[in-house]
Amino acid sequence: MKNYAHEYALSVNNPSKYWLEQSSNIAWSKTPTRGCSYNWESTKGTIFTEWFADGELNITVSCLDKHAQNTPEKVALLWQGEQSDNVHTYTYKQLLEAVCQCAHMLTNLGIKTGDIIALFMPMIPETYIATLACARIGAVHSIIFSGLSAHALATRLNDLKAQTLITAASAVRNGKNIPLLDSARQARACSPSITKTVVINHDEQSSLESDEYNWHTEINNLPKTFEPVIRHAEDALFILYTSGSTGKPKGLVHTCGGYILYASMTHKQVFDIQPEDVYWCTADIGWITGHSYGLYGPLSNGCTSILFEGVPTYPQPDRYWQIIQKYRVTKFYTAPTVIRLLAQAGTKWLEPYDLSSLKILGSVGEPLDPTSWQWYHTHVGKNRCHIVDTWWQTETGGVMLCALPGEHKTQAGTVGQPFYGIKPTLVSATEDRSITDLCITQPWPGIARTIFNDHDAYAKTYFTAHSGMYTSGDGAFLDHDNYVITGRIDDVLNVSGHRISSAEIEGAIVKHPTCAEAAVVGQPHPIKGEGIAAFVVLSADCIETAKLLDEINLCLRSCIGPIAKVDFLYVVEGLPKTRSGKVMRRILRKIVHGTTDIVGLGDISTLLNPEIISEIINKIIHG
Ligand code: PRX
Repeated sequence: MKNYAHEYALSVNNPSKYWLEQSSNIAWSKTPTRGCSYNWESTKGTIFTEWFADGELNITVSCLDKHAQNTPEKVALLWQGEQSDNVHTYTYKQLLEAVCQCAHMLTNLGIKTGDIIALFMPMIPETYIATLACARIGAVHSIIFSGLSAHALATRLNDLKAQTLITAASAVRNGKNIPLLDSARQARACSPSITKTVVINHDEQSSLESDEYNWHTEINNLPKTFEPVIRHAEDALFILYTSGSTGKPKGLVHTCGGYILYASMTHKQVFDIQPEDVYWCTADIGWITGHSYGLYGPLSNGCTSILFEGVPTYPQPDRYWQIIQKYRVTKFYTAPTVIRLLAQAGTKWLEPYDLSSLKILGSVGEPLDPTSWQWYHTHVGKNRCHIVDTWWQTETGGVMLCALPGEHKTQAGTVGQPFYGIKPTLVSATEDRSITDLCITQPWPGIARTIFNDHDAYAKTYFTAHSGMYTSGDGAFLDHDNYVITGRIDDVLNVSGHRISSAEIEGAIVKHPTCAEAAVVGQPHPIKGEGIAAFVVLSADCIETAKLLDEINLCLRSCIGPIAKVDFLYVVEGLPKTRSGKVMRRILRKIVHGTTDIVGLGDISTLLNPEIISEIINKIIHG
């Protein structure tokens, strides 16, 4: 605690000095002399944040060359396929060579510094290789989660106006091949900017179309060295889409210098990374956790990481325990939804395994409820591992709140204290002070600098509710010195740790021919944390059929992907609306959280149709 208090004070009292000192852990071509400059008040002009503006680097030097030189034979990546005997390892030297070959392939295809490359890829080593190759040549990567539908992929490709797409013939999931290339082709049909698609024929040989290039043929025999293209610290490294409260996904832009420093340092400290560690982050590369703590954090720290293409329950719910035993994993990072799923499967699945290598157990993405915390601590950690529940967001680039190992005691149900340089504050979001916004009062290097193509939305979403502060969109309160996250206070759902906007789901539901109107909110769910509750008003003369839920879910699958699925369907006569026609999701949220008397719902006098409330409550109680 003593170390933390001292270092924390230094970090927040003079952030520029603190982070410039920390930045010496990154390999710069030109060492920065400038720390932070920023404006977070819209009345004073454009909102911006800059770190290390005069620094120059290529982040792959920190992630690859440095270790290829110092520890060339150390394993960087340990890929485990779904089949137990499907394993591939890359040492740092081999990984650097593979990235350089891929960099040549991309430049041979005409890709230039600053171009945007979209990736729609499964959890295979080539995904990491391609991502790092983009960074090597100074291109901006945008990885689109491979579980999204062709429609969702097309929306993102069109926003990016990317010319190149890298994909794989298929992904492997639950023993099945998921045809990624089919989705990519469908998406491309309505994304005219894409002129080249590179395809990894991961498992199967498929014939390619004229604008498609076979990764293996193109990369074969290319040189294994490639000079890194030097970038400015503030140049974009990647764009990553996430959901906001509107139906339009937001492409958050992260920069080279600030992002790599923040991902690297938080990874090192949150997991107390040591040279002998075998680290495993189960997150998909398509999300920010996969970026910061699957790829960039571990490689920048010269760590040995596991990359697993598979799910926790296939062929049986012992898959994770098997992998932990097999590779003697020391640091493990997963999501509460996984913990709940495996806890529900039962301890009989983990009892046969030796999990004694584990030292630190991390969690991210949604609240880790005390029951799951206890299970994780007792059965996985055998009461001797430090549990670190980490709160952060796509926007923050890295962990913001957590109980640092060796510094803080974990308190179940809380996300601990601020990381170095992070100054949180709780600001009242409602007049009755029943909800407080979790805000951050000063910049840190990992913050996303803008929303791609929509800086106004960036300024509005994060910097208008409370001038001069970053507003996270989460509610929180303090329990002693530890923060407790109460969840999103905007119209964003957190389903199994996936962020989905209610507007996006509603848009997909009303594509069903009988659904006239829809409103969705999160409803407590035993495994997913939050399930999707949909209130649907049918078109005149339409009746509810037994197949409605399945049909609605087909609409969601095709518009968004299999991650979006209605769990609770309520067909109602009308939705509670304000006089200006806005649906009051707040009321629906309260009802599905168990408030079934009208008084408990608060002020409903502003509703245009207050009588609808009793009907909705009846529906919830009696079905
Ligand atoms: O609501 C918070 C929740 O996930 C949101 C961020 O989602 P995303 O940008 O997809 O990033 C997820 C991985 C960092 C937050 O606004 N969240 C994230 N971590 C936690 C959490 N809620 C409670 N406890 C956490 N540890």
